[in-house]
Amino acid sequence: MATYFYTASSLDGFIATTDHSLEWLFKQDFDWEATMPETQFMAGVGALVMGSSTYQWLLRNQESWEYTQPAWVFTHRDLDVLEAADVRFVQGDPADAFDRIAASADGKNVWVMGGGDLAAQFAEANLLDEGWIQIAPVMLGSGQPLFTRPLQLDLLNVVRNRDFACTRYRVHK
Ligand SMILES: NC(=O)c1ccc[n+]([C@@H]2O[C@H](COP(=O)([O-])OP(=O)(O)OC[C@H]3O[C@@H](n4cnc5c(N)ncnc54)[C@H](OP(=O)(O)O)[C@@H]3O)[C@@H](O)[C@H]2O)c1
Repeated sequence: MATYFYTASSLDGFIATTDHSLEWLFKQDFDWEATMPETQFMAGVGALVMGSSTYQWLLRNQESWEYTQPAWVFTHRDLDVLEAADVRFVQGDPADAFDRIAASADGKNVWVMGGGDLAAQFAEANLLDEGWIQIAPVMLGSGQPLFTRPLQLDLLNVVRNRDFACTRYRVHK
């Protein structure tokens, strides 16, 4: 069981525009059946973790909730939940919630979806094992950051998937 921060990023280190648009991302070409595809990645995921902006983006952009795994949403607010979605709201230090998150993953991996500051909080608490960053050939100039704290990583793998440089890193603990 491991905890992965799997995300797409612009080349200059942003995962969304300042106003939380991902239009720039969906313009890029990506072969979902090729190396390091999300489909294969998803088979090993037992629980999802995200901050409230990411959760609200999913609520705005999905017709129905597409995940079967428990989704842990970090927020200080009371947010809507779509029917049949297993969503669990949590707040504070990720270390305080991690035993429950890991137990809900039932032996599988935990996917920290974003944003970058929440992923950094996991790293700070020594809970992040790997980063899987799909880098799009786009400079956004500004936006929501990929990460918000210093972190040393080892490069494990890099492959090309059409427009993307798909990178995989181990986090130094
Ligand atoms: N490029 C990609 O593949 C990709 C992947 C994932 C996400 N995204 C996008 O990137 C953007 C990320 O947004 P974001 O940077 O604002 O990050 P976010 O983590 O999605 O949301 C940040 C918010 O989560 C809540 N939060 C974070 N840590 C918390 C904690 N420890 N305890 C309680 N609440 C906590 C806070 O809001 P409240 O307490 O006020 O609720 C905080 O303002 C979104 O637009 C998302 O759609 C892109």
